[in-house]
Amino acid sequence: QDLHFVTLLGSLRKASFNGGIARALPGLAPAGVRVSALGSVGDFPHYDADLQAEGIPAAVTAMGEAIAAADGVIIVSPEYNYSIPGSLKNAIDWLSRLPQQPFKAKPILIQSASPGALGGARMQYQLRQSFVFLDGRVFNAPEVMVGGAMGKFDKDSGDLTDEGTKAFIAKQLAAFAEFVRG
Ligand code: FNR
Repeated sequence: QDLHFVTLLGSLRKASFNGGIARALPGLAPAGVRVSALGSVGDFPHYDADLQAEGIPAAVTAMGEAIAAADGVIIVSPEYNYSIPGSLKNAIDWLSRLPQQPFKAKPILIQSASPGALGGARMQYQLRQSFVFLDGRVFNAPEVMVGGAMGKFDKDSGDLTDEGTKAFIAKQLAAFAEFVRG
């Protein structure tokens, strides 16, 4: 069947390398798979239970509904201080408070890029830990951790230019689609 995946970006930077990956995904997806972008994690206020008690922000509800309607979520994010960027973690924390927790049983794919050699691997494993509690179905292999980003993206636009990386991501997307179809 045709599938629809949505992307969640963990960087707010205009020329983000991870944003470059997210923008490339629609063109790298296999036939029958559509990919579109969710809203920005920068649109959410800092999580506050008192704010939640006044009503979950509309941007959180809208993103939760978009995730619920999708066949899978692709999270593309940098690693900050060996961990998950605060604004991405904040978004996940908000989304987890929705009455219909949108990550439950949801297929999830994690991708990352970094100028460093490990390509954001440590962030990926910390993200997986949150999805244990949220009961998401995180895809395992192959993993996309794009190291040495300086040579693989356009510095000014953040566009992904490395053909080998594109081919590998296309392969991962095809495997993720198979995982989702079961
Ligand atoms: C970083 N960076 C980084 N890189 C990495 O591989 N491991 C890390 O732990 C960190 N830590 C870190 C902390 C903070 C606060 C910043 C701002 C940056 C470097 C990071 O990978 C680099 O800035 C990327 O370009 C960020 O991703 P985007 O914005 O290009 O997608």
